Amino acid sequence: MRTHKCGELNTQQLDQTVSICGWVHRRRDHGGVIFIDLRDRAGLVQVVVDPDYADAFKAAEHVRSEYVLRITGVVRDRPAGTVNANMHSGAIEILAKEIEVLNESETPPFPVESDIEVNEELRLKYRYIDLRRVAMQEKMKVRRDVTRVLRNFLDDNEFFEIETPYLTKATPEGARDYIVPSRTHENSFFALPQSPQLYKQMLMVAGMDRYYQVVRCFRDEDLRADRQPEFTQLDIETSFMTEDQIMNIMEEMIRQLFAKVINVELDAKFSRITHAEAVSRYGIDRPDLRIPLELVDIGDDMKAVDFKVFSAPANDPKGRVVAMRVPNASELSRREIEELTKYVSIYGAKGLAYIKVNDLDAGIDGLQSPIVKFAPAEVWASVLAKTGAQTGDLIFFGADKASIVNEAMGALRVKLGHDLKLLQGEWKPVWVVDFPMFDWDEKAGRFNAIHHPFTAPSCSVEDLVANPATALSRAYDLVLNGTEVGGGSIRINRTAMQQTVFELLGIGDEEAREKFGFLLDALKYGAPPHGGLAFGLDRLVMLMTHSTSIRDVIAFPKTQSAACPLVSAPAVVTDEQLKELGIRLIKPAGKVKE
Ligand code: AMO
Ligand code: AMP
Repeated sequence: MRTHKCGELNTQQLDQTVSICGWVHRRRDHGGVIFIDLRDRAGLVQVVVDPDYADAFKAAEHVRSEYVLRITGVVRDRPAGTVNANMHSGAIEILAKEIEVLNESETPPFPVESDIEVNEELRLKYRYIDLRRVAMQEKMKVRRDVTRVLRNFLDDNEFFEIETPYLTKATPEGARDYIVPSRTHENSFFALPQSPQLYKQMLMVAGMDRYYQVVRCFRDEDLRADRQPEFTQLDIETSFMTEDQIMNIMEEMIRQLFAKVINVELDAKFSRITHAEAVSRYGIDRPDLRIPLELVDIGDDMKAVDFKVFSAPANDPKGRVVAMRVPNASELSRREIEELTKYVSIYGAKGLAYIKVNDLDAGIDGLQSPIVKFAPAEVWASVLAKTGAQTGDLIFFGADKASIVNEAMGALRVKLGHDLKLLQGEWKPVWVVDFPMFDWDEKAGRFNAIHHPFTAPSCSVEDLVANPATALSRAYDLVLNGTEVGGGSIRINRTAMQQTVFELLGIGDEEAREKFGFLLDALKYGAPPHGGLAFGLDRLVMLMTHSTSIRDVIAFPKTQSAACPLVSAPAVVTDEQLKELGIRLIKPAGKVKE
């Protein structure tokens, strides 16, 4: 139907007769001449319709936004002064000779212009129109480029792309399962995979050596800007590689990805930080290293002060007292500090003490704060030295249970980093390593796996049993600008270790057999040392396109309440379907239309 795409035309086609197809982006009637901007995936081109071509002119008089047209015409230079340097086709226009209306369009529910704010629910309901917007087309293109570069890299490095089932059994990754009833097995259900974790491990037992898959994962969990109930992983597993080798090859892949797709040179070597250091310095295990603010422990200084808010957590093994120096921030007003105090209260902080360093050389007299009076000069001198404070700085304090201090001050650090425009550098990838194996679940009175239960510890079975609370794992996360973009580990490949970990997680023999018997069996038949990781593909594309949510880089995402407004899913099913599945609803839905 067409000889060229709209957006690819330029002066190279001057004087040629071309045929193009696309949507009417804009139509302007300049009394006598009609201008149509025609749009396809490649971009826009300006078409001029002159009354000399009577049929074309008549057709153009009736077209409206989003009509689909086929236009044949001659490429010519735009008149002097009307060249648009921002457009690939901005130096030319097409003088239309024939216009065929391929289809009409009702007035769209919102304009197809990228810079117009539209309610997200509406965008998702009419996603096929939203996706016509240039910004969305660009994001889809980046996504296509991303998977292409990743696949090429992995193919070149002898990874096999292998598909694993979606109808399967629960794989614990810390979320609830989406379950699917089986018609052929009464009272039984499939679970959609939270990840292909156990299949990929069994592929290593099967001798597949290196595997990858661009794969959908399903998790019923609370949604956020970077979480969807179904999302895509680049899932990877390898045999006979150490964690260093795995991290190195993955680093190379991510570097190539950024260089080829968005022309960004990432660090030649990604930095690494231990989990303990990340939490200590940044309050969080996915630090945004662009922000040059740090939490500094001052518990030792505060043990004996006359201020319970600080001295109590300083003397409590589970407590933490930190200072965070914010350079040149002593100008922050009382109001602004009150706002920040409100902000940290979301994370459970009971207050936000601060000191303004008005004059470093004046000692305690140069400090301005309601809490200065609670401690002697030498305590503050020590705090100033530890934080490296200078005249004009503001120091914030957090004191409470360590978990609250970490969350609240970690969040404050990020907020101040953005609000005060302190970010340094554009891309700061970092591997977080040496995660603990477990954390203690107060409510349940047992350990939880920090990664998943198949992650190998870096110690022996005996040491793990002796000191489960302090044991470290062979896990690693890749964090980019404060977002966890990938994570993985060396896996347990021996039955005894796997059984020990299940026991420590409170999964008894019987339950372990029932849930993971197939894995325990597989480990008995020559399971090689293996390990891998999974990247959140949506998150990578979100960061690479500077999007604020992964919804913007998924063609058909779900809303915050895990629904799809476009097709109205989830939906009720017919009584007949339920009967066939042997399911009776506790609260029957209204009668379903057949
Ligand atoms: P994990 O659970 O850390 O590991 O997931 C890997 C990566 O997937 C992304 N991700 C998500 N993206 C969007 N929406 C979600 N709900 C969501 N949940 C996770 C994150 C995360 O880093 N099987 C292991 C990997 C392994 O050990 O090899 C796993 O799934 O970017
Ligand atoms: P108060 O004596 O309660 O008025 O508190 C004095 C200062 O300490 C105020 O600036 C409070 O915001 C701050 N503050 C109170 N509790 C905490 C806490 N847990 N961590 C940090 N600062 C706090």
